[in-house]
Amino acid sequence: MMKHHEFLSKLLFAIGVFFLSTSYGQSPVALRFDPSKFVAQSQELNGKTIKVRAYEKIVYVSNPVDTAYQVMNIYIPEEYFNGGSINGYTAQTAPLFFPNKVGGYTPALPATFKNSPQRGPMPGGNQISSVLVALSKGYVVASAGARGRISPQGKAPAGIVDLKAAVRYLKANDATIPGDANKIISNGTSAGGAMSTLLGATGNHPDYEPYLKALGAANATDNIFAVSAYCPIINLENADMAYEWQLNKIHTFKFRGKEGTLDAVALKVSEELKNAFPKYVNGLNLKDNAGKKLELNAQGEGNFKEYVKSFLAASAQKALTAGVDVSKYGFLQIKDGQVQSVDYDGYMQYLERMKTPPAFDALDNSSPENQLFGSATVDKRHFTPFALHYAPNTLSSMADALQIKMMNPMNYIGAKGAKTATYWRVRHGAKDKDTSFSIPVLLATTLKNKGFKINFALPWDRPHSGDYDLDELFEWADSICSPPSPHWGS
Ligand code: DHB
Repeated sequence: MMKHHEFLSKLLFAIGVFFLSTSYGQSPVALRFDPSKFVAQSQELNGKTIKVRAYEKIVYVSNPVDTAYQVMNIYIPEEYFNGGSINGYTAQTAPLFFPNKVGGYTPALPATFKNSPQRGPMPGGNQISSVLVALSKGYVVASAGARGRISPQGKAPAGIVDLKAAVRYLKANDATIPGDANKIISNGTSAGGAMSTLLGATGNHPDYEPYLKALGAANATDNIFAVSAYCPIINLENADMAYEWQLNKIHTFKFRGKEGTLDAVALKVSEELKNAFPKYVNGLNLKDNAGKKLELNAQGEGNFKEYVKSFLAASAQKALTAGVDVSKYGFLQIKDGQVQSVDYDGYMQYLERMKTPPAFDALDNSSPENQLFGSATVDKRHFTPFALHYAPNTLSSMADALQIKMMNPMNYIGAKGAKTATYWRVRHGAKDKDTSFSIPVLLATTLKNKGFKINFALPWDRPHSGDYDLDELFEWADSICSPPSPHWGS
């Protein structure tokens, strides 16, 4: 039998452990998930009723600065509270689908189960929400809001810090939230796609730690399992060069209702940016599938260009094989049902130019990205030495070097101190002109060269958009999560 003093010392030890574990961080009690605080919701999908417990507007940091946005919605299939399974997943094994609704780097509310149309106009009419589809396939859904560029508190890196804090909340509460927080799969489109790639690339990296600490993020890691990104607007400090390398010969533009022709200054800027791109590409030391270094010469020609073209040709081939009439595209050389090659200049005429040079770091500080890189006191700043040099306003200033670094996933993939996600799925439409094709190609190739698993494609004729292939997205997600087969052992 336990002696009295032994019992007392064990009790004191237990009390000590309890207080130590709960007093870590700022006020972690507020960050404890309460399973009893839900609202039952249901929706129909393809004749099936999806029933969930909805936990909405959970503030996910203990020192929030903006509770309109630093909130998360969590939706859990009702089955998981009754020992049930969906698609082979259970309350223990279900992956966590983590979509964000960030667009244009502006503040974003979390996605909702009800009345949650996805971002952007999608060709083909009404689009089913990824939240609903994920739940129907047995995923637990958690969607976090995030601050954005229009407020002084929302400048870079606020948005990605917020999403990382939400991941920490999910991991800290893994024991009480059904689903497996070691299987978080993020999803986003455009600026939201950028956020998704940042979540995947930068897991646990110390650069973000002071920001997370200041917010009172939960005491947990923030690395995630997998990334889904549609047309991520990333690598911003190199994207101006990439855009002009691709579209230098296209001198007319159509951008958000405005159209025109590049003037002499714009043409000069385009030329200089185009000429600077090869040095950047060559410095990455990336290899093609055969292990050959991907390069460009001073004219911007070389095997890297052929490599980019190969993804466009593969896209056209896939469309052709699926029965799309691609014969009308004069820039494709097709023989015996096979796409032989793509005429690059012809392709760019079909694509058209959207943005004027520099496409991202606007000389007059007028782009969304200029505002993203502002500070609490300066609304808009430059993030490339090039734009700062040519800025007409001599009072223009440069963003902080660390701030710029922290918004670019390319800096963190496989880097020391980062736990980069193993699995990636990246899609960028073959008719998307918001950024150069080379930007997602460089991302995918960096991932591949560093040993990460990347599923990458440029879907044919697809403009800037996301969530258009949800069945394929979740087929991929299921394949990496390997749910135990429902027929296991039978
Ligand atoms: C988005 C689109 C852009 O062209 C851009 O520069 C930044 C963000 C967006 O759709 O999120």
